[in-house]
Amino acid sequence: MKREMKQGDADSHNGLREQYDEVESRFEEGMARMALYHRHCQDPVIFQTLGEIRGKSLLDLACGNGFYTRRFRKECGADPVMGVDLSPMLIRQAEAEEQREPIRIEYRVGDVTTLELDRRFDVVTAIHLLHYLQSAAEIETVLKRIHALLHSGCSFVTMLANPEFDLTKHDPQDSKRKFGYYFSEAQSGNGGLLRFHPGGFEKERELTFELRRWERDFLEEIAQRVGFKLDWHDPFISPEGLSEHGADFFSNYLANPQSKLLRLTRA
Ligand SMILES: C[S@@+](CC[C@H](N)C(=O)[O-])C[C@H]1O[C@@H](n2cnc3c(N)ncnc32)[C@H](O)[C@@H]1O
Repeated sequence: MKREMKQGDADSHNGLREQYDEVESRFEEGMARMALYHRHCQDPVIFQTLGEIRGKSLLDLACGNGFYTRRFRKECGADPVMGVDLSPMLIRQAEAEEQREPIRIEYRVGDVTTLELDRRFDVVTAIHLLHYLQSAAEIETVLKRIHALLHSGCSFVTMLANPEFDLTKHDPQDSKRKFGYYFSEAQSGNGGLLRFHPGGFEKERELTFELRRWERDFLEEIAQRVGFKLDWHDPFISPEGLSEHGADFFSNYLANPQSKLLRLTRA
C-alpha cells in the first residue's frame, strides 16, 4: 500500500500523524538496515555537534517514539529532558518505554507550530522536523518559538534535508540495499518536495513521505531575522562504520548526503 501526503492537504499535520503511526507499526522490517545508517552516518554529526550536554536541560522536538530523546538523556546525561511530538501514538510508545525503564523523561503530544511551554532550555533538538513544515511563515513561527524557549547563548540543533542534495547522484538500489531507504523525486526550488521511501519495505508495502527541501539562503535569512547565529555541519562516517564496512561502502552516501545538520545559536 502506498500512502502519500499531497501538497496543500487541508489538514496536513493530521495526515502526517497518521503516516507516522503507520510507519511505526511497520518500522521493524526496515529497522536493521536503517539502524546501520543512523549509527554510522547520522549519529556522529549529531552527537559531535551537541558536545557536552551533561546536566543541561534539553527539549527534543518531533521526538517520535523517543529514540534520540532517550539517548540524549542516557548517553549524554542531559537532565531534565522533555520530548514533544505531534503523534499521540508515538508519544504513547515513548511513555511506555519510560515506564519500562524510568529515566525521568517527560513527554507531551504537541504541534511545534503552536507549542507553548512555561520554561526555557539549554538545548533544543529536532532530528528531522523542518522538512515537514509547509511554508516560510510556519518555519518563521517555529524558529521564533524555539528562540523564545532557549536561554541566551544556547543552541537549537537540527537535522534537516540537505539543501544541496542531488537526485541525479543518488543510486536508489544501492541506498535501499545498504540503508533501507531511497529517494525517487526531488523538485527544484525552495520548498521543493523530496520523495522519501524509508524502511526497506517490499514494493507493495512501500511508504512514501514528501519532505520539503528548504534552500540554504532562505533558512539563513529567516534564522538571522529571528535572532540566531548559524553554522552548518556535514555528516561524517563513524570510525566503527569505516572499520566494519570500509570507506567504499559509504562513498555514494557521503558524496551526496540527504541530510545536514544545522545549529542555530541564540545570540
Ligand atoms: C522522521 S520522524 C523523526 C522522529 C525522531 N526525531 C527520530 O529521529 O527518531 C519526524 C517526526 O516529526 C513529527 N512531526 C512532524 N511535524 C510535527 C509538528 N508540526 N509538531 C510536532 N511533531 C511533528 C512526526 O510526528 C514524526 O514523529
